[in-house]
Amino acid sequence: MSGGELDLSVKLGPVRLANPVMTASGTAGYGAEFSTILPLDRLGAHVVKSLASFAYPGNPPPRLAAIPTGMINSVGLPGPGVERWRREYLPGLLGLGVNFGVSIWGRSVEEFSAAAIGLGEALQQSAFCEINVSCPNSEANQALFSHDPGEAARVVAAVRAVTDSPLFVKLSPNTDRYLGVAAAAIAAGADGITAINTVFGQWVEGGSGALGRAGGGGVSGRGIHPIALRVVSELRAKFSDLPIVGVGGIATGRDALRMLQAGADAVQVGTATFVDPRRPYLVLLELEAELRRLGIHRLQELA
Ligand SMILES: Cc1cc2nc3c(=O)[nH]c(=O)nc-3n(C[C@H](O)[C@H](O)[C@H](O)COP(=O)(O)O)c2cc1C
Repeated sequence: MSGGELDLSVKLGPVRLANPVMTASGTAGYGAEFSTILPLDRLGAHVVKSLASFAYPGNPPPRLAAIPTGMINSVGLPGPGVERWRREYLPGLLGLGVNFGVSIWGRSVEEFSAAAIGLGEALQQSAFCEINVSCPNSEANQALFSHDPGEAARVVAAVRAVTDSPLFVKLSPNTDRYLGVAAAAIAAGADGITAINTVFGQWVEGGSGALGRAGGGGVSGRGIHPIALRVVSELRAKFSDLPIVGVGGIATGRDALRMLQAGADAVQVGTATFVDPRRPYLVLLELEAELRRLGIHRLQELA
């Protein structure tokens, strides 16, 4: 490779990406909706909104509020369900040659495996599958799967039983057990970890809750960047070879670089996309500039 050329390719276990910058699930559509705004096919991967085996309306509005450090949402995983998604959204991604990741959720172990089964061939066509375990477990008093190593492992094992696709488990930062959840997920067959999902929060506007359900929701954006960096640093310290995708408050190339230096192998851009929908692509360009500034030509040199 010649002097000034950059090789940003990354390997996350079985997953190879042309570069380490992706969209974050739930922040850039179900399919190729954003393709008129940014070149989705230039990203390392475009991760689509989490899908269930069934269509789901999500939570009642209002579901989003802008806050000084980013955003709080109680969107609640609305979606068309995997079958309609395959008919209406997948063709657009395939037609544009977008390297995409899918994301699945469920309210029981069985619903997770039903989502994976329902994706069918789309799982092979995708780069990887994220398992969004930040949802209430109907079989365990609505406790989140992501807060219990044993329950998270049951989900991973059930999904692993129905697919050979690369699996990434998305961690919740809202528990002191996240390292245990990661360990259990890997032992159950996950290939890597995505960290982090949103941080539990509350917002009050005009004397009452700003969101549909009593104001509670998930905080995202700039303010959670240090929290994401900490979770990723702890994961890297504990699991030296674990493929890690870092997400949380990344809005610039410098944020992406910081996340890679904290130990992530790749990054995702979420809430920043609501401020400027081109942000994931701009983060990639800015990251390239940061690496050139440091005289780095290959991402491996950051290690
Ligand atoms: C409006 C909204 C919807 C989201 N939906 C999902 C989702 O469907 N699945 C998921 O795994 N994460 C979802 N997330 C979490 C993001 O993927 C990301 O983990 C989190 O927002 C932190 O990154 P950020 O600070 O860059 O937004 C959502 C976040 C937001 C703000």
